[in-house]
Amino acid sequence: MIKKIKITPELRQFLLSKKIYFAVNRQDGLADNCILTIDDSTILENNCLYTVSSFDKTLPTIGTHSYSATMFPTQSQIGRYCSIASDISFMSAQHPLDRFTTSSVMISGTSVSDSFGFSDACQIGGFKQVPYDQQMNDGIILGNDVWLGQEVLFKKNIKVGDGAVVGARSIVTKDVPPYAIVAGSPAKIIRYRYPFKIIEQLLILKWWNYPVWKFSSITADEQIESFIDKLQHKIITGEISEYHPEIVTAEDMSNYTD
Ligand SMILES: CC(C)(COP(=O)(O)OP(=O)(O)OC[C@H]1O[C@@H](n2cnc3c(N)ncnc32)[C@H](O)[C@@H]1OP(=O)(O)O)[C@@H](O)C(=O)NCCC(=O)NCCS
Repeated sequence: MIKKIKITPELRQFLLSKKIYFAVNRQDGLADNCILTIDDSTILENNCLYTVSSFDKTLPTIGTHSYSATMFPTQSQIGRYCSIASDISFMSAQHPLDRFTTSSVMISGTSVSDSFGFSDACQIGGFKQVPYDQQMNDGIILGNDVWLGQEVLFKKNIKVGDGAVVGARSIVTKDVPPYAIVAGSPAKIIRYRYPFKIIEQLLILKWWNYPVWKFSSITADEQIESFIDKLQHKIITGEISEYHPEIVTAEDMSNYTD
């Protein structure tokens, strides 16, 4: 369920203490008394950075070590270690394609016909509007280690797999498979980051579930085969185990607002 949370100094301080940061350089950040729209199931893992814009501040689920220079629809999920550029946008409501008209004027009970004063401006006399239920939420689901380039436009309900990359200014109309690099309008796969055998191993390994600060002897530019071997060895020998970052839930946030 969607809920509205008012930003208070206490809530801001609480989020900061949990290492959940809000970018302030581009926009107005989290000012006191502004309203955040979140879902009951929203979870924020520590060490993440998120940007809110001036209007309708929405907050998705965000994984540890992810940063986003773009605000996402509330019911979205951003995995761990995602890099999200600025000016990404999300397609708005779909209009009915199989009715005699696609016009919102004929749709009742939705923000489409009620917003912008449409219902006043577009009188249709006694003609009965009918609701249009899309049965979809607005969320975009990003896996882990996803990189989104600047100014991407997403159709609703898109899933982007672990390790995938979306090129700048792409229009994404279909789900993106793990470790694919997609680009263009509509976005198409231009190649995969690694051969399928490696991708299979990475999807089993799920390196993002382990503490990178314990990846001793592994370098950030390690050859991928060697990275897989070394991390597998550390896991099998018990040198390293999965970790669970500190989290903040929607309920936690409710305790610091009024
Ligand atoms: C998608 C991307 C990662 C691909 O990088 P790359 O592998 O070096 O790509 P290449 O330059 O080798 O291009 C491969 C092909 O894809 C095409 N292509 C690359 N990026 C594209 C894009 N954004 N849109 C459409 N086509 C694109 C190239 O024209 C080329 O086509 P061709 O094979 O027909 O000649 C990169 O181009 C990109 O868009 N990066 C995003 C940068 C960004 O937004 N950064 C923000 C900071 S977070």
